[in-house]
Amino acid sequence: EVPSLKEVYKDYFYIGAAISVDSVSKSPDKELIAKQFNIITPENAMKFEPIHPQDGIYNFEPADKIVEFAQRNDMKVIGHTLIWHNQTPDWVFKDADGNQVDRDVLLKRMEEHIKAVVGHYKGKVYGWDVVNEAIEDTAPYGLRDSMWKKIIGDDYIEWAFKFAHEADPDAELYYNDYNTETPGKREAIYNLVKSLKGKGIRIDAVGMQSHINIYYPSVQEIEESIKKFSSLGVKVNISELDMDLYKWDEKEDRYKDGVPDDILKLQADRYGEIFALYRNYKDVIGRVTFWGYYDGGSWLNDFPIKGRTNYPLLFDREFKPKPAFWNVAKFA
Ligand code: XIL
Repeated sequence: EVPSLKEVYKDYFYIGAAISVDSVSKSPDKELIAKQFNIITPENAMKFEPIHPQDGIYNFEPADKIVEFAQRNDMKVIGHTLIWHNQTPDWVFKDADGNQVDRDVLLKRMEEHIKAVVGHYKGKVYGWDVVNEAIEDTAPYGLRDSMWKKIIGDDYIEWAFKFAHEADPDAELYYNDYNTETPGKREAIYNLVKSLKGKGIRIDAVGMQSHINIYYPSVQEIEESIKKFSSLGVKVNISELDMDLYKWDEKEDRYKDGVPDDILKLQADRYGEIFALYRNYKDVIGRVTFWGYYDGGSWLNDFPIKGRTNYPLLFDREFKPKPAFWNVAKFA
């Protein structure tokens, strides 16, 4: 009998997964998700482009299906994501003649978008990734030069949090990013959150995406970040966990015919160590969410190298638990 992670971890933190709209009406996907997780994140359905493809046109149906599925199965929902530089349509930044809009127009559009989306899910979404990936991941770790920053200015981040809070005062609000274990980026995120808190802006947690690989970052570096962020009095969400078998730029599809046992063992050991760390920080970790639930459905089969067969999650292509699953599920 395969144990349920949400049961195993019920005294620690929520256990989640990112899911697609299709998964909620497919077997064995929907059964596996309902059994294993108590909090889910729509992998794409709530992003700007899919949910608000044109000015004045909202497409809530796919995300609604995910929310209904979650409610039927007693799972919480994380809203992902309101303001990001990716998966955001061009119209947002342009007027009818195709010219770039000014700060006032873009702030209005941001307000309208956030209030419409957060408002639609008011009371149904536990917490929102309000701003995603706003910080550069190379020195000097400034704010990413996105259209939001270019047109509105650095304060676009505080406005996004304010609008989200006005739209649903009960929802938790998060800043979410990747490579949060890099020292300079860790520092920059810390400073950003500190300054938001200093301005009296609601922020409940830092989301550490945790798209890691079997080599790095180290457990110590992860721990440093959990400590540093939580020292600000916010929680930490492990928001998009997966563990790539490849280094970032490896081109070869090395494991297309399967993974050697020693590599699966390495992955299992590392997953085990990382969850042991998470358990030590159960008082500050709100949830651990995997970015997907089985290897065949992971975005890492197509990113950053297209068609590189990957195995980053706890269930294999046949939806069977991998060695890594057992190392996460079984601890003394
Ligand atoms: C990814 C999805 O998994 C893919 O399906 C999509 O094509 C691109 O986006 N950081 C994030 C997530 O915050 O939204 C991204 O999700 C993965 C990286």
